[in-house]
Amino acid sequence: MIETERLTLRHFTPDDADFLYDVFRRPEVARWSGEGEPMADRDAALRHIAGQPKRAGDHPAAGIFHVSVTATGTPAGLVLFAPLPSSEGVGRDDMEVGWHFHPDAWGHGYATEAAQALVDRGFAAGLAEIYAVTHPDNVASQAVCRRLGMTDLGLRSEWYDVELRAFRLDHPGE
Ligand SMILES: CC(C)(COP(=O)(O)OP(=O)(O)OC[C@H]1O[C@@H](n2cnc3c(N)ncnc32)[C@H](O)[C@@H]1OP(=O)(O)O)[C@@H](O)C(=O)NCCC(=O)NCCS
Repeated sequence: MIETERLTLRHFTPDDADFLYDVFRRPEVARWSGEGEPMADRDAALRHIAGQPKRAGDHPAAGIFHVSVTATGTPAGLVLFAPLPSSEGVGRDDMEVGWHFHPDAWGHGYATEAAQALVDRGFAAGLAEIYAVTHPDNVASQAVCRRLGMTDLGLRSEWYDVELRAFRLDHPGE
C-alpha cells in the first residue's frame, strides 16, 4: 500500500471489478486507452485485473494500483508503473507511468498526486528516467505530464507501434 496526502494506492483485487468496469465502460475514458473501445462487461474487468501482475512485470517499483480517496474511501482511478512496450524492431527498455481516472474524480489533482508517488518510487528504485505516452489529442493527460515536470518529447513512434506524444522525466539528481 502507498499513501499520499489524500490518496491510498493498493493492488487491485477481483472485488474491484465493478469499479474498473465503471471506469473503462465510459467512452470518455476508453477512447484514450490502448483498446480505444469501451470495456464490454464486468468479465473483461476481471480479466484485466487477472492480467495486471504480468503487465506490471518484475521491476521492484512496478505495479498497477487502485487509487481511492483516503478520507471517504471513494474509488478514484488506476495508476500504473510498468514496462513501456517498444515498437516492433525498436528494442528499448523503458518504464512508463500512466493513469486512468473515473470522470467523477477528475479536476482534483488526484491523477497527478498518485502518479507523483509512483515516479518517486521509480527514482528511489534507481531508474534514471521515466516516460509517459499520450494520444496526440489527449490534452488532459499531457497536462498531467507537465504538472509532474516531465519534458515534452513531441510525437514519437518508438513505443506501442503508433505515433504518440511522449514525455520524459529525468531523475532529479541526473
Ligand atoms: C488524464 C486524467 C487522469 C486527468 O485528470 P485530471 O483530474 O484533469 O488531472 P489531475 O489529477 O492532475 O487534476 C488537475 C486538475 O485538478 C484541479 N485541482 C483541483 N483541486 C486540486 C488540488 N487540490 N491539487 C491539484 N489540482 C487540483 C486542477 O486545477 C486541474 O484542473 P484543470 O485541468 O481544470 O486546470 C483524466 O482526464 C482521465 O482519466 N482521462 C481518461 C483516461 C486517460 O486519458 N488516461 C491517460 C491515457 S495516456
